Amino acid sequence: MTRTIAIVNQKGGVGKSTTAVNLGASLALLGHSVLLIDIDPQGNTSSGLGIDKRGLERDIYGVLLSGVPAADAVLPAGVANLDIIPATMALAGAEIELVSALSRETRLKTVLAPLASRYEFVLIDCPPSLGLLTLNALTAASEVLIPVQAEYYALEGLSQLTSVVQRIREALNPNLRLTGVLVTMFDGRTKLATEVLDEVNAYFPDQVFRTQIPRNIRLSEAPSFGKPAALFDVKSRGAQAYLALAREVAAGTEAVR
Ligand SMILES: Nc1ncnc2c1ncn2[C@@H]1O[C@H](COP(=O)(O)OP(=O)(O)O)[C@@H](O)[C@H]1O
Ligand SMILES: [Mg+2]
Repeated sequence: MTRTIAIVNQKGGVGKSTTAVNLGASLALLGHSVLLIDIDPQGNTSSGLGIDKRGLERDIYGVLLSGVPAADAVLPAGVANLDIIPATMALAGAEIELVSALSRETRLKTVLAPLASRYEFVLIDCPPSLGLLTLNALTAASEVLIPVQAEYYALEGLSQLTSVVQRIREALNPNLRLTGVLVTMFDGRTKLATEVLDEVNAYFPDQVFRTQIPRNIRLSEAPSFGKPAALFDVKSRGAQAYLALAREVAAGTEAVR
C-alpha cells in the first residue's frame, strides 16, 4: 500500500520544502522507495535536490495539464530509492489554468494513479496557499503532514487549514487522515519555542510528532549544494532529526494497516 503524504501549510517559510527533501531522503536512506512531487511553482524541492530547472523538458505542469505521462517526468534525485517529479516556473500558470479545467480538483490523483503504486511513499510538496494545486494534493493524498514553525503566530491559519482538510474529506477524499503535525525550527532553549510546542500539542492532542526539527544551519545550507542534509552532513542535528522523523513516519505504516 502506497502512502501518499501531502505536506501542507498555506504559510510560506514554515519548512514544507525542507521537510519534503529531508523526510523524503531519510525515508529513502532507511530503505523505503520514495517519490517526491514538487507542486510549488517556486520549485524549492527540485532545486534543493540539485535539479537544474532551466534544462528540463518535462515537469509536473506537463503531467497535470499537457498529457505527459507521470512516469515520463520522473527523475532520479541523487539518493538511492528516491525519485522526483520536479516543478518549473511553467507551473505558475497552472493555478489559473486549472480553474477552467475538467475535474479540476482530481487531476493530480488521476495522473498519479498508474505511477504511485510503484512506491511505498509519495510526498507532495505544496505551495504556500490553499489554491487548486494544494486542493489537488489533498485529493490525491492519503495523508496530510502539517509543518508548523515554532514562532509567534504559529497557530494562525491552522483552523482554516483544518477546515479545508475537513471539506476535502467530505467532498472528495473521505479517508484522508493526518500523518501528524511537525514542529520545525525549534529552539528548545527559548521560552517562546516551548510555549509554541505546548500550544500546538493542546490544539492537536496526540497528533504532534514526538520529533521536533531544530533550527539548524546545515538544513538551510544543504539546498545550495543540491543535497539533502543527510548527504551533506549526516551528523548534524538537522539531518539526525529528519532521520528520527522518518522512523516515526515509517512506524505509522503499521498503524495504518
Ligand atoms: N530547521 C531549520 N533550520 C534552519 N533553517 C531552516 C529550517 N527549516 C527550514 N529552514 C530554512 O527556512 C527557509 C524556509 O524553509 P522552507 O522549507 O523553504 O519553507 P516553505 O517550503 O514552507 O516555504 C529556507 O531558507 C530554509 O532553508
Ligand atoms: Mg516551499
